[in-house]
Amino acid sequence: MEEEYGVPPDVDPECELCSRPPPAGWVLAYCGEAPGEEGTRETMLTLGNGYLASRGADPEARADGVHYPGTYLAGFHNRLAGPGQSDGTESIVNLPNWLPLTFRAAGGEWFAPGQGRRVHEHRVLDLRRGVYLREVLVVDRDQRRTRVRQRRLVSMANPHLAALETTIVAENWSGRLDIRSGLDGGVVNANAPTEAGSCGRHLTHVATGEDDAETVWLTALTTSSRHRVAVAARTRIIGGGPRHRQTAVPGPDDVSQVIAVEVTPGERVSVEKTVAIFSNRDRAVSEPVPAAREELRQTGSFDDVLAEHVAAWARLWARFRLDIGEQHAWQAPVRVQTFHLLQTLSPYVIDLDAGVPARGLHGEGYHGHIFWDELFVYPYLDLRMPELTRALLEYRYRRLTAARRQAVAAGTAGALFPWQSGESGWDESPARSRSPVTGEWVDDYTGRQQHVNLAVAYCVWRYWETTGDLSFLAAAGLELLIETARFWAGLATYDPDDDRYDIRGVMGPDEYHDGYPGRPGQGLDNCAYINVMVGWVLGHAEEACGVLARHPGVRPWREVDPTEDERRRWEHIGRRLRLFFLDDGILAQFEGYGDLAELDWHRYRQRYGDLRLLGPLLQKEGDDANRYRVSKQADVLMLLYLFSAEELTDLVRGMGYEFDPARIPATVDYYLSRTSHGSTLSRVAHAWVLARTDRRRSFEMLVTALGTDLADPQHSSTRNGIHLGASAGSLDILQRCYTGLEIRRDVLRLNPQLPDGLDELDCVIRYRNQLINLHVDHDSVRISAAPGADQPVPVAVREKFFPLDPGSTVTIALPPAAPKDGAPDLRRQK
Ligand code: BGC
Repeated sequence: MEEEYGVPPDVDPECELCSRPPPAGWVLAYCGEAPGEEGTRETMLTLGNGYLASRGADPEARADGVHYPGTYLAGFHNRLAGPGQSDGTESIVNLPNWLPLTFRAAGGEWFAPGQGRRVHEHRVLDLRRGVYLREVLVVDRDQRRTRVRQRRLVSMANPHLAALETTIVAENWSGRLDIRSGLDGGVVNANAPTEAGSCGRHLTHVATGEDDAETVWLTALTTSSRHRVAVAARTRIIGGGPRHRQTAVPGPDDVSQVIAVEVTPGERVSVEKTVAIFSNRDRAVSEPVPAAREELRQTGSFDDVLAEHVAAWARLWARFRLDIGEQHAWQAPVRVQTFHLLQTLSPYVIDLDAGVPARGLHGEGYHGHIFWDELFVYPYLDLRMPELTRALLEYRYRRLTAARRQAVAAGTAGALFPWQSGESGWDESPARSRSPVTGEWVDDYTGRQQHVNLAVAYCVWRYWETTGDLSFLAAAGLELLIETARFWAGLATYDPDDDRYDIRGVMGPDEYHDGYPGRPGQGLDNCAYINVMVGWVLGHAEEACGVLARHPGVRPWREVDPTEDERRRWEHIGRRLRLFFLDDGILAQFEGYGDLAELDWHRYRQRYGDLRLLGPLLQKEGDDANRYRVSKQADVLMLLYLFSAEELTDLVRGMGYEFDPARIPATVDYYLSRTSHGSTLSRVAHAWVLARTDRRRSFEMLVTALGTDLADPQHSSTRNGIHLGASAGSLDILQRCYTGLEIRRDVLRLNPQLPDGLDELDCVIRYRNQLINLHVDHDSVRISAAPGADQPVPVAVREKFFPLDPGSTVTIALPPAAPKDGAPDLRRQK
């Protein structure tokens, strides 16, 4: 991985990217060609602005098994029935490709993959400016050397704009240079061919036109959601000699223009392709085609668009700064993850009807679906741009009706957000999927995971706790909490003999357990994660009612409160949910977990090496992970990710069980040694959990999580999109976990403990309308509030309380009380 951040191996002194690269902490670079890694690189070179994103595919390439141009709009889905399917699955739609741009020297071949010899190829993502830079030196079969320099952006200043500037230099030849620029509406979804029903053509009714010698447009309709998208492109040539008139070449589903220009050796010809994209889902837009054409008419040169875009990124970086030292090897990955997070969830999302797609807007993995991954994202956003969390939670709120129907279908009341969903909020979880080991179709029971609503409810409360946003709690948050409580209370059954409630037939986050041995897919009883979360939600639904009762002015106008009977039952359930413990006081993942067999990890490691796909490997052998005490990802330990040791102790004791927090380190060891980390979310949760007991391992986990989309480009599923939950979750480890940041009773509390792998951490957070800068190192914490008219912020650093006035800075020495790495430490971290 190192070479991606250092000087690329084949240096070309003429290459501007080799001679003047962006600063090391702000760059992601790839040199040379690597067809096997191209899909991953395209994902990592994706540009986006929350509304729109385009994969970093080469403009001269089409989808060909190596390259995959993909352009997506947030929340823009279509349902397509695959072979043998009647209903089909909703997928994010691959939209018309706006990139196509190529050239040829007179009499030569068009520049395309496999055409000519690429002597040098260098691609750089300039993270600070949000620009993708590319330089290629290509030699054609007549030994004509042509240098191509490209700058590409998807505007952070105007969400509808994207632009590509291509500068072509004929190094050793003169004559006619043909340039072809176009829009391709003939695209299909084909980025994730191993997923059921994910390939196919979602666009129909393609129409194209030419406005003037520089501008063409294309519009298309989705096959079932009937969304219309429109793209207009202006191609303008700057430099070169006499020019021949541009001619439009309409194809059945595409349109392009060919421009011929005379060039001499060393002369630069620039081609500015500027594109506007609109859809009928946009607000304040009635007709996307005229909107796109008008936008282009009002848009200036590439440099004009670039200047505004760079200024917008500068403002965004000022809000999302997270520095661990310019020289730190992981500074660039921290920024790469921040960059892609912001490209998916930018401030523009606030005005959209879009959720948190697990794979970003970077590919078609999981059909662009939404799972529970927001649980790893919102706590980070709450302290940066809480309006974003609010908008994303409102996306859930708008889908409460679908969630209520899903709950009824599950035989109970309240609301159940499906495990996988798209635009409609309906259940899109697959019934079958391909084994990543054998490629065979196998039953897929992951849709049995009903814990998404628990994640949403948890996020509602944390958002409220962080922001104090009463109007949100009243307008949407309360109902989300109550409907979640209602659902789980409906599932809980009472056992009068023990005065205990059971929740049966469920599935926790660990996807290796969907049933008892011999009964796959039938669910499990009394999952610790679910039962503890349910206890927490029941209590907090009640607390939210109490908060709003104290503020009659903002109380919802609709009747959403639970009845007295419900309240009594919730209170009883919350106290009497059943949990199981293993012999040594360790919380059991579910009832009967202790009866499962132990896996011989040593033997399996020897046989397979990497055990991230342990479940499918066992399946290949005719075995079943359900038989063993193995986990794909954090499950019981998720509780320690979400709750401090103190909170968890209170919760479990509140359910009437003895719980000794001194058993927490043993619990962490127990499950960690039985986890294969088959989900990228797993290392995030474990990095957090270990921060309390073993900071060295915690940091190791964190850097693996940070590197999720950067390591192993040959084999990684990053070719189908980034892993957004792991990205945001990793950043949150730095932001909240290592600073020990928590908001409790309106006090901003800090209890920093950096691992040895970090010398310092500097970030800016937003708390109750104030911008606060935090600087933490091993000896001290410095906290500064930006000047302004707000009230002082109540702060506590390791229980030392003080008010932080606007415009002031307080530095507090950290006594060397922190235990050394590796020593148990149960002090409150969250
Ligand atoms: C994980 C889920 C996650 C999903 C999408 C799966 O591999 O097991 O927990 O929600 O990926 O990121």
